[in-house]
Amino acid sequence: MGFNKKTIEDIEVRGKRVLVRCDFNVPLKDGVITDENRLNGALPTIKYLIDNGAKVILCSHIGKDASKTLEPVSKRLSEMLNKEVVFARDEEVVGANARAAVEKMNDGDVVLLENTRCRKEETKNVEEFSKELASLADIFVNDAFGTAHRAHCSTVGVTDYVDTAVCGYLIQKELKFLGDAVNNPVRPFVAILGGAKVSDKIAVINNLLDKVDTLIIGGGMAYTFLKAQGYEIGTSLVEEDRLDYALEMIQKAKDKGVKFLLPVDHRVATEFKDVEPVVTEDQNIPAGHMGLDIGPKTEELYADAIKDAKTVVWNGPMGVFEFENFNKGTIAVAKAMADADATTVIGGGDSAAAVNILGFGDKMTHISTGGGASLEFLEGKELPGIVALNNK
Ligand code: 3PG
Repeated sequence: MGFNKKTIEDIEVRGKRVLVRCDFNVPLKDGVITDENRLNGALPTIKYLIDNGAKVILCSHIGKDASKTLEPVSKRLSEMLNKEVVFARDEEVVGANARAAVEKMNDGDVVLLENTRCRKEETKNVEEFSKELASLADIFVNDAFGTAHRAHCSTVGVTDYVDTAVCGYLIQKELKFLGDAVNNPVRPFVAILGGAKVSDKIAVINNLLDKVDTLIIGGGMAYTFLKAQGYEIGTSLVEEDRLDYALEMIQKAKDKGVKFLLPVDHRVATEFKDVEPVVTEDQNIPAGHMGLDIGPKTEELYADAIKDAKTVVWNGPMGVFEFENFNKGTIAVAKAMADADATTVIGGGDSAAAVNILGFGDKMTHISTGGGASLEFLEGKELPGIVALNNK
């Protein structure tokens, strides 16, 4: 996706009501936000708008439906900005309370609307709610990279009813790092893909094979690739209906001269539990055992490939990193990336969580705030939330 979209710096915001779509879909435990990557990512745009005298009306979803409130986000944002973020509690999202809160705003004030998924129209991109959102504002800014793959009222529909729809700094930054890595990489370019299922990564494997020098596969999906080549995989995860696809991808890598690395040993167990692992001799997994992490020889093989890279993109953990006995492969890859003299980009979701939990967050060039969105970007798809914005 070429970047030709207008940004907040291309327009006059002073004195204007600016509706900013953020991705505040953050994890909460007992009302406390446990990962602030998305809040930190949203701050530069919000600060710019405050400093330039806009009336800043923030909106976002949180969770899959109406069951969660954004109130904890308004509290935490107030602390981070050192300025009150007025929470417009309102089941209708754009009901009487929200309108009253916006009405009272002075230049530089910040209001946060309630969870946009309190409105069932939101995810269906229904006109009525899009119009209501637009009616609050003179200008729309999308800075929700994490939700840019969704064509919802607050990401796409609203742009039909405002004159000006531009992107914020976070979307700009995400597109720069992900875009440069994938479309203009300094070589060697290594991509690491993990996670449970081949079916989730089909399009991304296919797209990246056209771009990388080395593709590394780990996590649950590795067992489907190994079974397709005739190795024993015991009771490991497998997608029988993807075996042919796995072989096709291995062949595509050969045809393109791309190194395609699969685990050469594993850490396995007889059940899906955080127990003492058995390390296999080679690619084969004994009967009655399931692979839960890559093994030590694989760690070395992967670290070696990463060491010489100049660009590394990673999406998906190497094993069950939530289990202490099976987080070694994920740690090894994170460490190799941290030590590499390379641009290192982490796709969001599980891999971002893993890198942060394991303490390597500040060693990476860029950690995306998008899970599904960064995956779709890596698949080479256009993101509707970005396509809908005004061109330069
Ligand atoms: C995410 O967490 O990936 C984004 O906020 C999108 O959320 P969704 O998958 O519920 O649309």
